[in-house]
Amino acid sequence: MEYYVDIADIGAVRAVNEAFAIDGFTTNPNILTRTDRPLSELFSEYRDYIRQTGQTIFVQVTAGDAEGMVDQAKRLHAFFGDNLVVKLPAIREGYKACKRCKALGFRVCVTVVHSTMQALMAAKAGADYAAPYISHIDNIGADGVHCVDEIVKAFDRAGAACKVLGASFRTVEQVDKLAIVGCHAVTITPETFDMLIAHPSTDVSMRGFNKAWREKYGDKQVTDFLPTEG
Ligand code: E4P
Repeated sequence: MEYYVDIADIGAVRAVNEAFAIDGFTTNPNILTRTDRPLSELFSEYRDYIRQTGQTIFVQVTAGDAEGMVDQAKRLHAFFGDNLVVKLPAIREGYKACKRCKALGFRVCVTVVHSTMQALMAAKAGADYAAPYISHIDNIGADGVHCVDEIVKAFDRAGAACKVLGASFRTVEQVDKLAIVGCHAVTITPETFDMLIAHPSTDVSMRGFNKAWREKYGDKQVTDFLPTEG
């Protein structure tokens, strides 16, 4: 599964990247309003980061019509290069822009997906990713995980090359269940990365190891006991 960090803070992305294996990071218009830094500075940092790491950045267009979306996609692609995935909304103009962006050779994610049909239409339009919003789907009385399950199966049956990028998580359980239904990618917050690997029993075992070691060997480290080779 591909893992992305859902945040517009390059320091936070770097910190997650140091600890975990990630494939890049995603942004959206909301996320980009949560910083007080000039966006032009941020975009330069993003570009440096993806050039250094070879990772992927997802940036969403803000235009409302296909013409404007394609124009923004071209300019975003000229700036970020092939490590960019352009996010286009799952609305009529977005699908229209998707076909045109694919003809231009750009990678595309159709985002704010709330149904299997929206995802299938994204795949049909050549999108590389379709991003269902799990919590938003739950919040309208449907079942986000079930929706992803259906999309993954529908893509498999249709032989679609499009990947499902699960987004908008509120719990680790949602991420867990998406992995089980075969979701191809997820984008999650830095805090969620830590929660994915947290386990109280692991902490208990670690306390046990540390106590036993300290009682017998004090401050010494395991490497202190390596024989010196003659
Ligand atoms: C994904 O790319 C989206 O930016 C994100 O997951 C949306 O999450 P939200 O529920 O916080 O809006």
